[in-house]
Amino acid sequence: MRHLMSPLDFSVEELETLLNLAGDIEKHPEKYAHACEGKKLATLFYEPSTRTRLSFEAAMMNLGGTVLGFSSANSSSASKGESVSDTVRVVSGYADIIAMRHPKEGAPYAAARKLSVPIINAGDGGHNHPTQTLTDLMTIRREKGKLDNLTIGMCGDLKFGRTVHSLIKAMSRYENINFIMISPEELRLPDYIIKDVFEKKNIKYKNVRTMEEVMPELDILYMTRVQKERFFNEADYIRLKDSFILDERKLVDAKKDLCIMHPLPRVNEISTKVDDDPRACYFKQALYGKYVRMALIMTLLGVSADEDR
Ligand code: NCD
Repeated sequence: MRHLMSPLDFSVEELETLLNLAGDIEKHPEKYAHACEGKKLATLFYEPSTRTRLSFEAAMMNLGGTVLGFSSANSSSASKGESVSDTVRVVSGYADIIAMRHPKEGAPYAAARKLSVPIINAGDGGHNHPTQTLTDLMTIRREKGKLDNLTIGMCGDLKFGRTVHSLIKAMSRYENINFIMISPEELRLPDYIIKDVFEKKNIKYKNVRTMEEVMPELDILYMTRVQKERFFNEADYIRLKDSFILDERKLVDAKKDLCIMHPLPRVNEISTKVDDDPRACYFKQALYGKYVRMALIMTLLGVSADEDR
């Protein structure tokens, strides 16, 4: 029995297999329409979500399974003081697999202990977001045809953005990735990532203050929202929230095949005028998220395509 807690839980080879499966699901959804018949997914979301929760639910439904769950701590017994491990233990009797999002770093790890069904970390505070990373890897592979030899600019809230932290860890395992971190001083990457990932693995990275100065170098521009809910004071959030806004003007010097990504939700860090640019990949990215989650559910439940059973 296997859980997904961190973007490094799967080896590079296992990821390759998972992304191939996701690609096949995208091409031939009919082959997988009954793969999870009779199985239930529980989505336990203690924090707001649109894409992650709904794409998990759509994924399970597309596999012929069913879903149950809650979408806020207020509508669960957490509001009465129940611990996460008690809730998860009870739910493991009602469902075959669990996806959980929690504002506290490490909450899903604690819940996974002694659990008899697979649990997926759907985001734990500012720490990790491994299923967004799977989504991002599928997007990069689909759009660039490879996961190595790329210059990736990450822009916005690099301090609190868990999608950034997870993606850096995952991409650090591929050859010749050059990271460019674009953020205000206050929202720079946490030291532990610089030490544990960049320095330990001798990976090229630099910090810059404007996206314009590096735009021509980028193969991928990964935009992020300033994470309002993780700030300690409102004044800092207001001061920093509009630090980086991508608009058509800033794309003038960009490569013709730049891939612009964003985990979404967007607040106003990408002008809606950019949406029609063929380099804007963020809505496709959200769709790929459904296919990788289908592949992930199948992998963790150990089920195969309809014809192979
Ligand atoms: C992200 C998250 O929850 O971390 N959203 C998502 O899952 N696509 C990004 C964000 O909230 O900014």
